[in-house]
Amino acid sequence: MEKHFWPNNWVFILAAIGSAAGLGNLWRFPYLAYEHGGGAFVLAFIIANLVIGIPLLTLEIGLGQMTQSGASNAFGYIKKQFRYIGWAVLTLGFMVLSYYMVVVSWGINYFGASLHLGWGNNTEGFFFNNVLSLSSGVDVVGNISWPVLSGLIIAWVFVYLAVHKGVQSISKTVVWTATLPFAILAILILRAVTLDGAVDGLKLFLIPDWGALADPKLWLAAFSQVFFSLSLAFGIMIAYGSLKKRTDEITKGVLWITGGNFLVSIMSGIVIFGTLGYMASQQGVSVLNVIAGGPSLAFVVFPQAINLLPAFNITIALLFFGMFLLLAIDSAFSLLEAVVVSFKDKYSQTSNKKIAFLLSLAGIISGLVFTTAGGLYILDIVDHFVVNYGLVAIGMFEALLVGWLWKEKELENFINERSKLKIGKKWRISIRYIIPLFLGWLLIWNTVNEFRVPYGDYPTWALLYIGVLPLLLIPVVAFIIEKLLSKNKRE
Ligand code: PHE
Repeated sequence: MEKHFWPNNWVFILAAIGSAAGLGNLWRFPYLAYEHGGGAFVLAFIIANLVIGIPLLTLEIGLGQMTQSGASNAFGYIKKQFRYIGWAVLTLGFMVLSYYMVVVSWGINYFGASLHLGWGNNTEGFFFNNVLSLSSGVDVVGNISWPVLSGLIIAWVFVYLAVHKGVQSISKTVVWTATLPFAILAILILRAVTLDGAVDGLKLFLIPDWGALADPKLWLAAFSQVFFSLSLAFGIMIAYGSLKKRTDEITKGVLWITGGNFLVSIMSGIVIFGTLGYMASQQGVSVLNVIAGGPSLAFVVFPQAINLLPAFNITIALLFFGMFLLLAIDSAFSLLEAVVVSFKDKYSQTSNKKIAFLLSLAGIISGLVFTTAGGLYILDIVDHFVVNYGLVAIGMFEALLVGWLWKEKELENFINERSKLKIGKKWRISIRYIIPLFLGWLLIWNTVNEFRVPYGDYPTWALLYIGVLPLLLIPVVAFIIEKLLSKNKRE
């Protein structure tokens, strides 16, 4: 079967920005900035982008482009046994995808509710009771929530349609999903900053507390945010790189992707904090009382703020949740495509459609557990362990493999032959030393803290079985996949 590529390098750049810009920019970045010294965090984030984001992104895209294959074969190119690490990366990604799609489903429910501001005045009740039917704790799994399951199926249909023809359908989709958020953010910024009290919110987001730069927690947060935000260590950028022509430019593209992703983060922060400032002033409370990050920001606090707007509430609601969906959906399908590409490498005769369909079906089934009444708790625990341990460990391996176990400067030469902007010693230092050392530190730091203060108010058994066990199973699953696939080799 003939291999297809991105129509041109710009479409690839858009697709990569689409993957990078997601909920991490919308609800994670602004909150982290607020927690860690405002503008000081923004500076640390820029530094982290330069020191680890750009080098690792260059590595992943270059590796994919050079080997013309997804994570599994790309690592296998370095050494055959490393294919197995590629499958571990993809298994982790698939886990993230299963619950990320459930969040998309919540977004779909809210987009629908926006039409009539269906959350009413009790936005908390709407989210936890009407949408989630949340149970009393993680020990009560309870029934499936129908609104969430319906949203999940709709979300998967979209994602399937986006990837069913591989790079061809993705190219058509990202032209919209990766550009419209910029336009919507611009509109929402204009609205937010012209509201009374917006300035008070913006101060919390942007005024730097330089003293915070001395706190290691700020650096840990900035570095791990770069990782998560640029969709690194999921095999995504390797897969997207593998769909580039071997002759395409690399390093300038990396700068565009990093810059675009940064812009979405800053713009989101302005929208979020401007709006929170207004909301606080309407309610006559300090902004500190209304600040939130994560799901409660988007699904509890923001709907409240929308209720309080002087005019065009429904339009703003549709724009906000429309943007939420656009940001999330191309991050989600990039995760699916990463897995599809690696299976396609193995089964080159099987159609893209079939692989995408089977994986989507598997995704719905593995997402079911997050649609139950206890689903939010389960999602929260899985997310915590995957992001803080799984991702970090994989990123460390990736840099170690390429930095130390690869005999030649093959990748570096490959990248430089195609790019005006060259990489060299600084890049090597980052890959060999800075990234592994930093990620090692992060892993130890997180583990020590986990023992000191276990995550959330969850019972220990829940953290062990829902959080730790799945992570431990990832290498096992990867091993099984690799064994099965090498047995049924059809090539
Ligand atoms: N980069 C995405 C974000 O910032 C997160 C993500 C990572 C999503 C990997 C999918 C895959 O939201």
